[in-house]
Amino acid sequence: MEKMEEKKRIVLVPVPAQGHVTPMMQLGTALNMKGFSITVVEGQFNKVSSSQNFPGFQFVTIPETESLPESVLERLGPVEFLFELNKTSEESFKDCIRQLLLQQGNDIACIIYDEYMYFCGAAAKEFNLPSVIFSTQSATNQVSRCVLSKLSAEKFLVDMEDPEVQETLMENLHPLRYKDLPTSGVGPLDRLFELCREIVNKRTASAVIINTVRCLESSSLKRLQHELGIPVYALGPLHITVSAASSLLEEDRSCVEWLNKQKPRSVVYISLGSVVQMETKEVLEMARGLFNSNQPFLWVIRPGSIAGSEWIESLPEDVIKMVSERGYIVKWAPQIEVLGHPAVGGFWSHCGWNSTLESIVEGVPMICRPFHGEQKLNALCLESIWRIGFQVQGTVERGGVERAVKRLIVDEEGADMRERALVLKENLKASVRNGGSSYNALEEIVNLM
Ligand code: UDX
Repeated sequence: MEKMEEKKRIVLVPVPAQGHVTPMMQLGTALNMKGFSITVVEGQFNKVSSSQNFPGFQFVTIPETESLPESVLERLGPVEFLFELNKTSEESFKDCIRQLLLQQGNDIACIIYDEYMYFCGAAAKEFNLPSVIFSTQSATNQVSRCVLSKLSAEKFLVDMEDPEVQETLMENLHPLRYKDLPTSGVGPLDRLFELCREIVNKRTASAVIINTVRCLESSSLKRLQHELGIPVYALGPLHITVSAASSLLEEDRSCVEWLNKQKPRSVVYISLGSVVQMETKEVLEMARGLFNSNQPFLWVIRPGSIAGSEWIESLPEDVIKMVSERGYIVKWAPQIEVLGHPAVGGFWSHCGWNSTLESIVEGVPMICRPFHGEQKLNALCLESIWRIGFQVQGTVERGGVERAVKRLIVDEEGADMRERALVLKENLKASVRNGGSSYNALEEIVNLM
C-alpha cells in the first residue's frame, strides 16, 4: 500500500478572514509535517486555495455559502454575519463530510474548526467523528466570552451605569475590570451575548487548541480549563513553528528595500490589520502627527481601510507629499519580515491577536490603538501585564500621535519596553523549542489524534 493512503486526514474549517485563515493554515501545515493529510473546507470568498501555496492540501468548498457574498459581512457586521454563516453552512457542511467519507473511506481523524464556525459540531456528532476547536484569539478572550455567555444584555447595561461595578476586578483575570469585557464595536449587545452563548453551549469538541503561549497567559489558561472541563492546549505562536504563506492580499516587498536604508530601530511600522477602517479626518491627523515626530515610518493603508475611499485618493496632494518625505506607504506589507527588520523600532497597531504575537516574537514594543472586541483586551495585556506597549485613547489628533511616537522610539520609557519585549521574545522562542510548552502541546495533540 502507498504511504499516502495510510495517512489519517484532518479536516480544517477556518473563518474566511485573514486573521483567522493565517493561523489555521499554520496549524494545518504543522500537522501535515507530523504526517496527517489535510482537507480545508472553505466558503465562497477569501479562499486560501486561490493562493496556491498549499499544493499537498485538498480544498473543498461549502456550496451553500454562495448566498453569502462578502458584501453581507460589510452590511450586517461581524456578529450577524457569523450567525448567518453558521445557519447557512450547517447542512451543507454535513453533505461535504458525507462526500468525503464516501470518496475517501473513513480516514478522518478529526475535524478542527475555528471556534466561530460552531456549525461543525453538529456534523461531527452526526458522523461520530472526533472534533477539536481552534481559537485564533487569546485565552483571555475565551474566558471573557464564557463570562459574557452567562450575562444578559439588560443586566450588563444596568451594571455599567454603576461606576463601582465597572471597576470591579474580574476573578482570576486581573487586571481586567468588568468594564474591560470585550463588548464594544461589534453591534447590539444582546446579539453579541447570544453569539457567545451559541459558541459556548454548542461545544461538542473533545479539546481546545489556542494559538497562544503558556508563559503569556497562564492564569487565563488555567481558568479556561476549569470553565470548559476539557483539555486546553496552548501551542503558539504557530508562525514560529511553521512558515505557511496564506496572505489573501499581495504583499508589497518594496518596503523592505526602503527599510534597508533606515537607521536601526528608528522606524515606526503602522498597520491596522485586515478589517479596521478609519475616517479620512483621523488619517489626516495621523499623517501630520507622524510627520511631526521626525521619525521615519512605514504605513500600511489597506485598500478600503479609509471609509468611503478606494485607497488614499481622499487625502490631499500636499499631505501625500509630506508623508513621502519621511514615510513610505504600502497597501499590504510582509508584516512578519517587517517586524523582524532591524530598522523597525516600534509598531502602531490595532492589537489584533496575530499582530500582537508577531510583534512580541520580534521583540518590538507597541503603540496600542485597539478598535473593537478583543483588541481592547490584547491592548490591556500589552500595557498592564506584559508592559511592552501603551494605549493611545480618545480622538486621534496630531499632537497625541507625535507624542506617542517619541515616547516609544526616543524616550527612555520606550527603551524599557523594548527590553521587556526582548525578554518575552526569548521566552516565546523557547516555548516552541524541543521540550518547551508549545512544542509539548503539539506533540500531545498529535498523540490525541
Ligand atoms: C481579526 C480581528 O480583527 C482580530 O482582532 C482578531 O484577533 C483576529 O481576527 P485582523 O484585524 O486582521 O484579525 O488582525 P490580526 O489578528 O492582527 O491579523 C492580521 C494579519 O495580517 C497578521 O497575521 C499580519 O501579519 C497580516 N498582515 C497585516 C500582513 O501580512 N500585512 C499587512 O500589511 C498587514
